[in-house]
Amino acid sequence: LPRPLPANEPVLNYAPGSAERAALKARLASMAKERPDVPHVVSGKELRDGEAYEVRAPHDHGLLLATCHDGGAAVATKAIDAALAAAPAWAATPLEERARIFTRAAELLAGPWRSVLNAATMLGQSKTAYQAEIDAACELIDFLRFNVAYASRLAEQPLSSPGISNALELRPLEGFVLAITPFNFTAIAGNLPSACALMGNVVVWKPAENQSLAAYHTMRLFEAAGLPPGVINVVYGNGASIAGTCLARPELAGVHFTGSTTVFQSIWRTVGENVARYRTYPRLVGETGGKDFVLAHASAEVEALAVGLVRGAFEFQGQKCSAASRAYIPRSIWPKVRDLALDHIKQIRMGDVTDFRNLMGAVINERAWTRLSGWRERLANDPKAKILAGDGWSREKGWFCGPTLVELSDPGHPLLAEELFGPVLGVYVYDDAGEGFDTALDLVDRTSPYGLTGAIFSRDRAAVAKATTRLRQAAGNFYINDKPTGAVVGQQPFGGSRASGTNDKAGSAYNLLRWASPRVIKETF
Ligand code: NAD
Ligand code: ALA
Repeated sequence: LPRPLPANEPVLNYAPGSAERAALKARLASMAKERPDVPHVVSGKELRDGEAYEVRAPHDHGLLLATCHDGGAAVATKAIDAALAAAPAWAATPLEERARIFTRAAELLAGPWRSVLNAATMLGQSKTAYQAEIDAACELIDFLRFNVAYASRLAEQPLSSPGISNALELRPLEGFVLAITPFNFTAIAGNLPSACALMGNVVVWKPAENQSLAAYHTMRLFEAAGLPPGVINVVYGNGASIAGTCLARPELAGVHFTGSTTVFQSIWRTVGENVARYRTYPRLVGETGGKDFVLAHASAEVEALAVGLVRGAFEFQGQKCSAASRAYIPRSIWPKVRDLALDHIKQIRMGDVTDFRNLMGAVINERAWTRLSGWRERLANDPKAKILAGDGWSREKGWFCGPTLVELSDPGHPLLAEELFGPVLGVYVYDDAGEGFDTALDLVDRTSPYGLTGAIFSRDRAAVAKATTRLRQAAGNFYINDKPTGAVVGQQPFGGSRASGTNDKAGSAYNLLRWASPRVIKETF
């Protein structure tokens, strides 16, 4: 097994005339016409049970991409039974063999499958080629390769002594793991079931409705890599009913979840209510919402700060859990930062992501568009909010929300506390005279319940040190002079605490250990 850590998958740049651009363009054109009738996959067999629902391109809702089926309790039950039937053989499969399968998946994705997952992510989730490349290609390849390397390092053996031999065995959990995944990252959707399966677990995977196209191709990729039937079983459809069925089963061994805080809390509550019926205490791992901050010190380099704000807040339409959505900028530099940021915002092209000149696509669906429009209207009528930029909202062809910059006069404003999950950045301008920076640190720490990502921009090392200490619990991923998005597997293990999750760091040994139940064997001679 590859104990040395692998190198990160290089990001391709899709320059005009490049081979990768031609391959991706061709794949986009063919995939826009394929319109698969996406099956649930249970014990390696395709099922199309349940009411059909459509998957459409967010930037062009006239474009039908696929049909899926809401599997509900009936397919969820079949999936659980299939997983449990596959469990003994998979648990007996050596880690070397499991690792070979997921390494093969990484190699296929780095090669011929790259354009498949990128095109599905562009069309289905409205990511630009660059945003798809760093997610569906590089991040998922890295998750697969790094997990294999980390898994091979985990089983640290205990001490033995004369006449006594001790061994530690990393058993899988007893039962099945439910993986519930979000719409916004194809890499996360692929990682949650595969990390559990790598550790010898059997899985029921419930992808997000709006990520179904890329999830479908991800499952095909795992099968092409040799994943045996029943190890990962995919059920599409309504989360509450599929999860409800799984959480009621005594064999539930764990939940690997990424999504909103409220849904994870509802899962936790149900597991609590059912705790006496489970055979083991289910492991609950959840990466949830964020209200990620950018804090500037008066010594900040203003151009880097303006770029960090704009890229952090508006790439992928602000729908990264890590997206900058609240900023605290000193009054002394605000006019320069504001003007630079507004200049950058003016240059953003938004539209169909298959046009490679666009930097932003559409938000994920009509529900998101309606929710965000409601916020926009509320802010437009709010005397404590001044909208500095906010053009480009339309719903005729796709769900477009223009990059929106809002200056707030109230540091306790809900826009600085609640997750909107869209391209809306709230800025509070603080007075940097006297104790102003310390007050800003308190605001960053106390205004929002979340603790996912955050950034400080400062050239003053003492201010950086102070922020790093004071904001210890405010972000699981803390950036100094960089935007708070774009964590790279193996470099910045990702996850947050407080209302942002259990902080088990996706793509790391910390995460993999949650999917193992160690057994210690002592033999006396
Ligand atoms: P979501 O919570 O709406 O959905 C996530 C998944 O849960 C989907 O598969 C959905 O079908 C399912 N689901 C919905 N209701 C359910 C229920 N009652 N019971 C069980 N499952 C249910 O989230 P989303 O809109 O897909 O993703 C956006 C959210 O995910 C944001 O809050 C974002 O911050 C968070 N997120 C966090 C991270 C992280 O690493 N912390 C990463 C990505 C996304
Ligand atoms: N890896 C993603 C980011 O950091 C979640 O933006």
